[in-house]
Amino acid sequence: MYCPNITIYLAAMAMFSLGACTGRTDKPRRKTDEGGSLGSQGSPVRAKKTTGKKILVAYFSWSGNTRAVARHIAKKVDGELFEIISANAYPENYSAAVVRAKVELNKDIRPALKTAKTDGGSYDVIFLGYPNWWNTFPRPVATFLRDNHLGGTRVIPFCTHGGGGMGFSLKELRKLCPDCVIEKEIDIASRAVKSSMDRVDGWLARLGFPPKAL
Ligand SMILES: Cc1cc2nc3c(=O)[nH]c(=O)nc-3n(C[C@H](O)[C@H](O)[C@H](O)COP(=O)(O)O)c2cc1C
Repeated sequence: MYCPNITIYLAAMAMFSLGACTGRTDKPRRKTDEGGSLGSQGSPVRAKKTTGKKILVAYFSWSGNTRAVARHIAKKVDGELFEIISANAYPENYSAAVVRAKVELNKDIRPALKTAKTDGGSYDVIFLGYPNWWNTFPRPVATFLRDNHLGGTRVIPFCTHGGGGMGFSLKELRKLCPDCVIEKEIDIASRAVKSSMDRVDGWLARLGFPPKAL
């Protein structure tokens, strides 16, 4: 199929642009954590703690890859899951989502979130997960960072992507969260999410979160 945009993007973006052009079926999988892990008042249900730390696993996910990693991490570290959801849902159509994401990035929009969270600064550690969108994180993650005054919180980023790795998301994270202690990230290619959980466990262990037997 002809796709004129493909020539103008950077090499790192080619893979996801190609996906759009070839009718890739990365449809959003709608089983979110907004009901499952959030209480009736919209606050996250606290997981049993074994690390002695208050841990949040906050993530945005459009088609489910980052959600799968976030759920795995939350189980391993006994963290609370919090899904960052835009109040105005992103289109299910891949190309339409790509276009909207680009407009939001260019205008540096902070989309309103479906569920507010403002106590992010009360956690010892925040795992922050997102897909790489246009080489950085989706704008709802920027809203989350604006609304939560994280101060010197330990923030541990994780990202899924179509070939572009973390892009410049870490640079933007440092800018939006200048006092955070940003620790070693992990990036996972979207095609390898299912097979990467052992790698995730190794990363967690190196960060001081030894996986416990489940
Ligand atoms: C709007 C949009 C923009 C994307 N931009 C990029 C990009 O710049 N670089 C990249 O490697 N992948 C890009 N991708 C691919 C996603 O990062 C990848 O499929 C990711 O695993 C999706 O995670 P999710 O299932 O949690 O939404 C993009 C996907 C979408 C929908």
